[in-house]
Amino acid sequence: MTGCSGGRTSPTTVQAATNPDPRLADYKAHVEPVLQANCLRCHGGMNRRGGLNMSTRSALLQGGKDGAVVVPGRPEDSLLIKLVSPGLAEDDPMRMPPKGARLRAEDVAALRKWVAEGVVMDR
Ligand code: HEC
Repeated sequence: MTGCSGGRTSPTTVQAATNPDPRLADYKAHVEPVLQANCLRCHGGMNRRGGLNMSTRSALLQGGKDGAVVVPGRPEDSLLIKLVSPGLAEDDPMRMPPKGARLRAEDVAALRKWVAEGVVMDR
C-alpha cells in the first residue's frame, strides 16, 4: 500500500491515516520477525529462560532474573542489546542467542533502533 501513484495525495497524509505510529510499522517489519526467529522459543510463552519473557512489552520491561534488560531510549544501557552485540566474546555464556549463528548486523541495528525509539510493541 503506497500513496505514490498519482502524486496528488501527500504520502505523509496517507501514512498518518494507515500507520498512526511509524515505529509500530518498524517493529512489525524489522523487530518482531527477529525476536520470533531467534528469541521467543526460549523467552516467550511457556519458556522464560533467565526469568525473561519477551512476548509482551510489559513482560519485557519487567526484565529477567538480573533485573531490567531494556531501558527505553537508551540502547547503550540495555542488557538485551549488549548480549546480542558482536562485541561479546564468542564463548561468553550470556551471549544471545546462546548457540548457533549470531544475529545479523542489520538485525542488531534494528533492535538497537527499536530500544532507542522507546521499545514500541503491539502487545
Ligand atoms: C536456546 C534458548 C535461548 C534463546 C534462543 C535465547 N535465549 Fe536469552 N537466555 C537463555 C538462557 C538460558 C538465559 C539465562 C542465562 C544465564 O543466566 O546463564 C538467557 C538470558 C537472557 C537475558 C538476560 C536475562 C537476565 O535477567 O539475566 C537476555 C536479555 C536475553 N536472554 C535475551 C535474549 C535475546 C534478545 C534473544 C534472541 C536474540 C535470546 N535471549 C535468545 C536462553 C535463550
